[in-house]
Amino acid sequence: MTTSAREETATNRTSAQHHELLRSAPEASLQSPVRLQPARVPRHRARALLEIGGRRVPFMRWSFIRLLLSMRRLMRVWQVGDGREERLADHVVQNAREGDLDDVIRAIDEYCYERSYMINVGDEKGAILDEAVRRARPSQVLELGTYCGYSALRICRAMPDDARVVSIEFNAANALIAHRILEHAGIIDRVAVLVGTLGDGGRTIATLEAEHGLAAGSLDFVFIDHDKNVYLSDLELILGQGWLHPGSVVIADNVKFPGAPEYRAYLKERQDQSWRTVEHEAHLEYQTLIKDLMLESDYLGGPA
Ligand SMILES: C[S@@+](CC[C@H](N)C(=O)[O-])C[C@H]1O[C@@H](n2cnc3c(N)ncnc32)[C@H](O)[C@@H]1O
Repeated sequence: MTTSAREETATNRTSAQHHELLRSAPEASLQSPVRLQPARVPRHRARALLEIGGRRVPFMRWSFIRLLLSMRRLMRVWQVGDGREERLADHVVQNAREGDLDDVIRAIDEYCYERSYMINVGDEKGAILDEAVRRARPSQVLELGTYCGYSALRICRAMPDDARVVSIEFNAANALIAHRILEHAGIIDRVAVLVGTLGDGGRTIATLEAEHGLAAGSLDFVFIDHDKNVYLSDLELILGQGWLHPGSVVIADNVKFPGAPEYRAYLKERQDQSWRTVEHEAHLEYQTLIKDLMLESDYLGGPA
């Protein structure tokens, strides 16, 4: 079986089977002959190789190249295909103190800098997210795009103790990984991960309203970090449901890279009418070469 066929098959297996498959797969068939494999390079040397002039550049790392090679697959099934998402959960369980939210976040950042590059919001933009959550002091948070739960962990750490997050995730395998990590961090009673999409014909919206308390004016904070092509249509769905109230805060990642130009233009056109948006300049996660933007928008109410 070819590597890609093996990877495709792996996505249909149970977590345990998938794990077993990855363990038994010969390393050479999953990885290229490029020498910069973090596992084989002493950590201090790996770090030096990944920085040029004080800038973090993961581009020579095999894990980054592997992700680029898998981009089409990543955009379709939202896993890189080499088992890094499952291995992240293993890393967290083995290396982060159980019930210690800070330590779980630290362990994920460590894994992403030193083992496998991943598409979490990351530490730099994560700090912008933290500040937005602290400013909003939300009771009810909606996240679009859970992936492995990294941003949900950060939101939970910054929000008031009695607040709740419901996070929507398209890929059921990612939702399971996130659940495992959130459970290890001891916050599974504060975050619900729902498998679905807002655009799935009403199923997820109905569940959010029936089981997670979303109702007119109930939503204080939204983090948008999923499929860039549906940022705007999903914001319009949220507005259509009437879940926001004046003062609700919506923050979106990756507006510059990979980019969500329609979303950005929509908010720009409505600046100081129904929205007030601040654009935060930052970098794409876990490096400092590619620039990115996070948009933090206060809903002012009135016409969408
Ligand atoms: C960039 S990752 C999210 C990263 C996460 N917010 C973090 O910072 O840790 C995008 C995630 O959105 C999910 N996704 C893609 N399209 C989606 C959709 N329409 N609704 C919900 N989730 C979606 C993908 O499966 C993927 O796990």
